[in-house]
Amino acid sequence: MKGIILAGGNGTRLYPLTYAVSKQILPVYNKPLIYYPLSALMLGGIQEILVISSPRHLGTFRDLLGDGSQLGLNIEYAEQAEANGIAEAFIIGAEFIGDDAVTLVLGDNIFHGPGLGRMIQAETRNVDGCVLFGYSVGDPERYGIGEVDADGQLVSLEEKPTSPRSNLAITGLYVYGNDVVDVAKNLRPSRRGELEITDVNRVYLEQGRARMVNLGRGFAWLDTGTHDSLLQASQFVQTLEQRQGVRIACLEEIAFRMDFIDAAACYDLGSRLGKTDYGKYLMEISRQARQD
Ligand code: G1P
Repeated sequence: MKGIILAGGNGTRLYPLTYAVSKQILPVYNKPLIYYPLSALMLGGIQEILVISSPRHLGTFRDLLGDGSQLGLNIEYAEQAEANGIAEAFIIGAEFIGDDAVTLVLGDNIFHGPGLGRMIQAETRNVDGCVLFGYSVGDPERYGIGEVDADGQLVSLEEKPTSPRSNLAITGLYVYGNDVVDVAKNLRPSRRGELEITDVNRVYLEQGRARMVNLGRGFAWLDTGTHDSLLQASQFVQTLEQRQGVRIACLEEIAFRMDFIDAAACYDLGSRLGKTDYGKYLMEISRQARQD
């Protein structure tokens, strides 16, 4: 299973924050936004990851994440020259995907909840067609919206409907079989001139090969699209981290707990950040693990 993080877009709704920097680099409490979707892929056991961003911002992600080897990952980079739509990720990433299945996550989506990793692992094991993840929202007209039957089969799909048929938003985490590359290549641009992810999903819906898993009310799927929601996401992470004394989307810890790196390597990564609580946390969990 390959993973793609799409960190494109111009972030116009967050101006002036995003005049000079990519939206997915902005802080959510104590780490850059892209850490959160990357953590979802890692929890899903995915180690080969392609980061796609605009030519202007790609270098920043490379500076931040490098080749991924420090986290036991293999991270590659590719440009999306223009904002041509989410589904273009599969065309840009065709060579990277090769003969594998692929999980796509949008670089500004934050997921947090019990068993997230296990759920992604289960869904990525033998995917035929596509698996979407639904989340109940109070403002469905802002999202792709799906309806499922009792077996979890997707039965309808609408992009930003004015009269939504359900309140189940389709989150920015998508699992596909290898044929998604061909599906994307055969797609016609929408009226907006973009290759829409909803049109990809509609192909699978029409073939009866689209499932949607409801994330349920115990999960948090957080929005970062406006100044207020970005601040609220930071406050959510701050509240949980301080209350529980554990970290959310701490990539080094996840790499260690997923066995991508060992305790000594995790400790080293922590010592590089040693002046921060983040670094001290990493050193502490590695120390504890070595004592167990
Ligand atoms: C995109 C998708 C939409 C999905 C959303 C999740 O919308 O088109 O179906 O619900 O991501 O974040 P966008 O945020 O690009 O408007």
